[in-house]
Amino acid sequence: MPSIIFVHPDGAREELEIAEGTSVMQGATAQGIDGIVAECGGNCMCATCHVYVESSQLALLPAMSEEEDALLDGTASERKPNSRLSCQLPVTAALDGLVVNLPERQV
Ligand code: FES
Repeated sequence: MPSIIFVHPDGAREELEIAEGTSVMQGATAQGIDGIVAECGGNCMCATCHVYVESSQLALLPAMSEEEDALLDGTASERKPNSRLSCQLPVTAALDGLVVNLPERQV
């Protein structure tokens, strides 16, 4: 299973194995990662699954939809060039070793 590395705002790192086809958000919430709220359950409606993807790995991700782009304008923590919604990131073998930084807050 691909490993995804979550980095908390204090620098603490947690590495999780997440099944392919599952979203980064689903893997994180199922395994109790603090810092991802996912109020809407992955329907691209809440922006509380915001993460900052390691910039060097952005090209590995699927293109951003208009809905995701619009929601990212309303995140609780500042939007940055490497902001993504983790519910819109399906885990694939290519994402093994992906590093996602958690924002200071989601709401
Ligand atoms: Fe709501 Fe991702 S879980 S937008």
